[in-house]
Amino acid sequence: MRARRKLHLMISRIFSALHLSAALGSGLIAGVFFAFSSFVMPALARLPPAQGVSAMQSINVAVLNRSFLGVFVGTAACCVVLAVRAVASPSTASARLALAGSLFYLLGCVLVTRAGNIPYNDALARLLPNTEQAADFWERYVARWSLWNHVRGLAAFVACALFILSLGGCSRFGVCATPERSQLDPLPSKLSQTGYGTAEAREFKPRFELWSDGAQKRRWIALPEGARIDSTDVDEWSFPVGTRLWKEFVVDGVRVETRLLQRVGPGSEDWAAQAYVWLPDGSDAVATPGGANDARGTSHDVPAAGQCWACHGGRKSFVLGFSALQLEGPAAPGLVNLDALVAEQRLTRAPSSPLQVPGDATAQAALGYLHGNCAHCHNQRRPAAAANRCFDPRNELDFALRSAELATVEGTATYRSAVGTAFEPGVPDASRLVELMSSRGFSQQMPPLGTEQVDAAAVGAVRGWIAALH
Ligand code: HEC
Ligand code: HEC
Repeated sequence: MRARRKLHLMISRIFSALHLSAALGSGLIAGVFFAFSSFVMPALARLPPAQGVSAMQSINVAVLNRSFLGVFVGTAACCVVLAVRAVASPSTASARLALAGSLFYLLGCVLVTRAGNIPYNDALARLLPNTEQAADFWERYVARWSLWNHVRGLAAFVACALFILSLGGCSRFGVCATPERSQLDPLPSKLSQTGYGTAEAREFKPRFELWSDGAQKRRWIALPEGARIDSTDVDEWSFPVGTRLWKEFVVDGVRVETRLLQRVGPGSEDWAAQAYVWLPDGSDAVATPGGANDARGTSHDVPAAGQCWACHGGRKSFVLGFSALQLEGPAAPGLVNLDALVAEQRLTRAPSSPLQVPGDATAQAALGYLHGNCAHCHNQRRPAAAANRCFDPRNELDFALRSAELATVEGTATYRSAVGTAFEPGVPDASRLVELMSSRGFSQQMPPLGTEQVDAAAVGAVRGWIAALH
């Protein structure tokens, strides 16, 4: 199993290197052709025809050297491999972009060179520079050859852009689509109209919280009168239609936003979700489906409604922190926990066994953190992208803690899916997940959104856990 994953990882690194080579190669070639289109051909065209012809003949001989041909043909070879792989597994956005890039390079650049430019070069090579025939042909050569050169230069340039997109940037995660009107319409425009702050809204706190750059958060749930949560699947509760949940963010003492999730229909994705940003006088908060950066003068970014789906969408339960595993254990006074839900008969079925996270305290902290901060995306129970998905990982990592897999550390999905690839037992420094958790920057951080500051305590806990493994 582990050897297979290592092989998998190695192959994916080789393909990353091929992507990079294709991007650099097509960029270099685009630059060469750009120089000809931009000033080399115009310069030669200014010379007397005999001189122009001899200069171009000399260029056409000199260009057949190892460095130019190496880049030109080497890039084509990378493109062929990437195109074959993309056709074999066209499912990812990155593969599709690489395929488009390869086709641009192979057809727009290599084929055009072969069918457009080379015949002109061959014809030019057969002429003696000082003849009238050469002067006649030269005029045509400059016009036609340059035209084909514009085409192949542009194709190489577009190929380069596509390879860059396929390598990283947006294609890696996808862009979050704006939710349809029907997914926002059910929500009122003011927070005070949502039932926020009323007696039916009961406060809770998940055991393993999501890190939000140190923001203080509070959460509430309001279940419809007399309705029960379908808890047949211990790990994926299904909430009655009409359920509302709120989560409030206080950053540096400023109450910035309160988010709302509301179940609006029977389908698993029938949820409405958006954030409300507080007015400066604190009298109410206003629906902000477009999100807001550095809201209310803090460094906190309020996500756009489409982004809610990046983390909440895709699994059977849309709700993340109100689950059996997250509510297990004692609660602060006034807060709801699992025992209270069972006692009040709010669940269709009580969990049959205690949801004890395996391992010692260090392991529990690390596994719980990864569950709370990574499992909403890295979760093999999250089927391939549905309508509103973005930030959707393509890899096999799974950081979810599930009730049936809590007997041993080795039995958790986290251990099984990530050992040997995302972490190396005993060596936190060689562990990719530690590296990604410890960095912040576009396409170089985990989690990829919702945080701009490293969670130092969590990195410490995860490092400690990995260091103690063997
Ligand atoms: C970066 C991932 C992420 C994004 C983006 C995100 N959430 Fe959440 N949200 C979570 C996680 C994880 C939890 C549970 C843990 C916690 O609350 O600390 C949660 C909890 C909540 C809760 C409490 C109920 C629950 O599911 O536990 C509400 C309400 C909520 N989010 C609303 C929203 C809304 C509305 C948006 C979009 C404006 C949004 N969230 C965007 C990850 C995210
Ligand atoms: C909002 C969704 C989301 C969350 C939350 C998230 N990831 Fe990721 N993760 C991704 C995406 C997207 C990729 C890109 C690679 C891919 O497409 O598979 C990725 C890739 C990775 C990779 C492998 C890729 C590489 O560059 O080596 C690791 C390891 C990883 N994540 C760890 C984590 C950890 C640890 C956490 C929690 C601290 C986390 N992720 C949280 C979406 C997410």
